[in-house]
Amino acid sequence: MKHKKIAILGAGAVGSTTAYALMLKNIITEVILVDIDEKRCLGEILDLSDALSFSGASKIRSGTAQDAAQADIIIIAAGMRQMPGKTRIELMSTNRSIISTILEQIKPISLHAIIIMVTNPVDILTLDAQQFSGLPRNQVFGSGTFLDTQRLCGILAKKLNIAEQSIDAYILGEHGDTQFPAWSNAHVANIPLLNFPSVNQEYLNQIAEETRKKAYEIIDCKGTTHYGIAACVATMCQAIIFNQKLVIPLSCYIPSFEVCLSMPAILGENGIEQILPIPLNEKEQQQLAHSAEFLQRSLLSKNS
Ligand SMILES: NC(=O)c1ccc[n+]([C@@H]2O[C@H](COP(=O)([O-])OP(=O)(O)OC[C@H]3O[C@@H](n4cnc5c(N)ncnc54)[C@H](O)[C@@H]3O)[C@@H](O)[C@H]2O)c1
Repeated sequence: MKHKKIAILGAGAVGSTTAYALMLKNIITEVILVDIDEKRCLGEILDLSDALSFSGASKIRSGTAQDAAQADIIIIAAGMRQMPGKTRIELMSTNRSIISTILEQIKPISLHAIIIMVTNPVDILTLDAQQFSGLPRNQVFGSGTFLDTQRLCGILAKKLNIAEQSIDAYILGEHGDTQFPAWSNAHVANIPLLNFPSVNQEYLNQIAEETRKKAYEIIDCKGTTHYGIAACVATMCQAIIFNQKLVIPLSCYIPSFEVCLSMPAILGENGIEQILPIPLNEKEQQQLAHSAEFLQRSLLSKNS
């Protein structure tokens, strides 16, 4: 096990729930929480420490940006969250400035560190982190559409009345409104989803829309989404720590588009080991290009 020390920058809802998810996974790790709001960070540490006795393996403490710089895995979850009815891309200007400050503060970053970007808009900020950190691109990536993919599989599982673990389907592209399901490659227990008798275009459109809207619905009800993403990020850490080579859709750099967006990637101890070339039909290729163009335009926009 190469990676044992995990720093989480941003001890808000997402950061602290990620620490909790890591603790409950019982991975042998030291978790360091860092937040500009020191009092909140202390409160989260004290609260989390009450759960330590159920997690024999973890240690948790607060730290500085410099402590984070020496961690093996650096999770960035600091910054403004999505407001009800607002899109993730609307956070771009504020969060780019917060993340650039953080990336400056954690220099020099340990050369073998892996950075996981979670703050939104995650695809834009992953590209920033790759550029500012100076680390190889395979060591800097975002949670991307991992969460959206879990949502898609959860919705499909319910509709088909089949265990989620038997469903293999991906949301790809932007972690945002231009995301799309790669239906042509979706399988249920090795059977192409498109072969199922109940599946028609209307059915697929409805599931895609439900998946895309789920974050808006949660934010409308309670102001934040944190359990799902925390479970996703803890799973990513586990894949890195135990070199599991798990295939997950993650936000990574796609040279042909010159942006970061989600494609299925193999995740192991070196970070992204390989981006898998998933065959897409013509419509899906257009949707992928649309996602990439949207991100390219956003990067060029006035408030970027
Ligand atoms: N990628 C995903 O799938 C996903 C899912 C959910 C939320 N998010 C994103 O995660 C981010 C955090 O969301 P949240 O609900 O935890 O928000 P939150 O408001 O609960 O927490 C954000 C924390 O960041 C801290 N912070 C701000 N500037 C900082 C700095 N310079 N250094 C250190 N800490 C700083 C704040 O003090 C606060 O504690 C948001 O951008 C949100 O959109 C991403």
